[in-house]
Amino acid sequence: MEKILVEKSPPLKGNVRISGAKNAALPLLAASLLGTEDIILEDVPKLKDVELMCEVLASLGSRVEYLEDDIIKINSANVNKYETSYELMSKMRASFLVMGPLLTRLGKTKNSLPGGCAIGTRPIDLHLKGFRALGAVIETNHGNIGAYADKLIGDKIYLDFPSVGATENIMMAAVMAEGETILDNAAMEPEITDLANFLNKLGGDIKGAGTSTIRIKGVKKLGGCRHAIIPDRIEAGTFMVAAAITNGDIIVDNVISNHIKPVIAKLREAGCTVIENGDSVRVIGSENLKAIDIKTLPYPGFPTDMQAQFMVLMTLLDGTSVAIETVFENRFMHVDELKRMGADIKIDARSAIVTGVKALTGAPVKASDLRAGAALVLAGLVADGVTEIENIHHIDRGYDGIEAKFSKLGARIYRKTY
Ligand code: UD1
Repeated sequence: MEKILVEKSPPLKGNVRISGAKNAALPLLAASLLGTEDIILEDVPKLKDVELMCEVLASLGSRVEYLEDDIIKINSANVNKYETSYELMSKMRASFLVMGPLLTRLGKTKNSLPGGCAIGTRPIDLHLKGFRALGAVIETNHGNIGAYADKLIGDKIYLDFPSVGATENIMMAAVMAEGETILDNAAMEPEITDLANFLNKLGGDIKGAGTSTIRIKGVKKLGGCRHAIIPDRIEAGTFMVAAAITNGDIIVDNVISNHIKPVIAKLREAGCTVIENGDSVRVIGSENLKAIDIKTLPYPGFPTDMQAQFMVLMTLLDGTSVAIETVFENRFMHVDELKRMGADIKIDARSAIVTGVKALTGAPVKASDLRAGAALVLAGLVADGVTEIENIHHIDRGYDGIEAKFSKLGARIYRKTY
């Protein structure tokens, strides 16, 4: 078993380079099932989830090969399997993203219901609504979901909620459907735009990604391309919070500052100095940070994936802050762990009321999901003594080289095997 140990650290200083975005890499890898020629993906983050998605692709008949540490070559010319194994699917929710590509490429797909982070019930009804609208028949039995269609035909689809995964899955299914699909109330996350750009490079015809209406004209065949994955805005935000809470001075390199506007705005509101400079953002903390409120929303609102990290910041702010979670129904699992470290947090339905405390104290804690794990690392940087984090496989799902990157900034962070 592995644990991450974090000791109270000095103010973090220096530069950190952000890796490619996990949430862009996973749909792009799934979409690689659609190409019939070589696909080269650059800036692929080294993550457990990426490894798993590569295993899923290989199990379906794709050839996946690392050209360099962060460059993958995929060839899906011979994809012929339409079923994924329970073992792989149950490890990662995003593996469900292979459904759209397999459905449109092979006319059928069968998968077990997805696993992944335990943050709420996370249904997939909107993905299925989209597949049905395109003409697929959906069958569920024995924990499996199958989608079948001799031919997919474009249609108008309205999403009841701008789900990121549903937008991606439907876009991938529609890219080779007959005729035009118009997806309304689509998610507008940068990762959606990256996926649309990638599909267009393969030969797709998608317009409007990044807005709430996406128009997808079906094409007969997709080829290959070379594509660099966008930087991970959540990893960037996590290091920005680290600068704020340690009263540090960090330059976060390889970011698209437009993608992290709410994080920048909220850090400034708390009293940090944030300087945007091309593809870098410098965050300078302050001893006198004041309370802020956040409300998570679909993009371009405040990202739910930054809520836990901001809650650590809130525990140290002067006054009472409120975090409202509107995207997921059960995403306060880090709260009990932070309370064990001395935080003063009360939960009222979807709101967390956080009263600033003088200090946190290190304790043995457990990561309940990916971002909750990141929050515990952050809390450990400022807590007196040592914070021992268990269940760190959650952290490894989404942070590329977390100890190395934090250590380089002066953090006292170690991984230990027991
Ligand atoms: C993606 C991200 C995740 C992020 C989330 C919201 C990836 C791999 N993961 O997850 O890090 O936290 O977006 O920004 O990109 N919902 C339904 N029915 C559906 C689908 C979703 O009701 O068919 C609900 C979910 O339960 C949830 C909300 O919609 O409450 C948002 O989910 P969604 O946007 O789909 O998130 P994911 O794609 O799973």
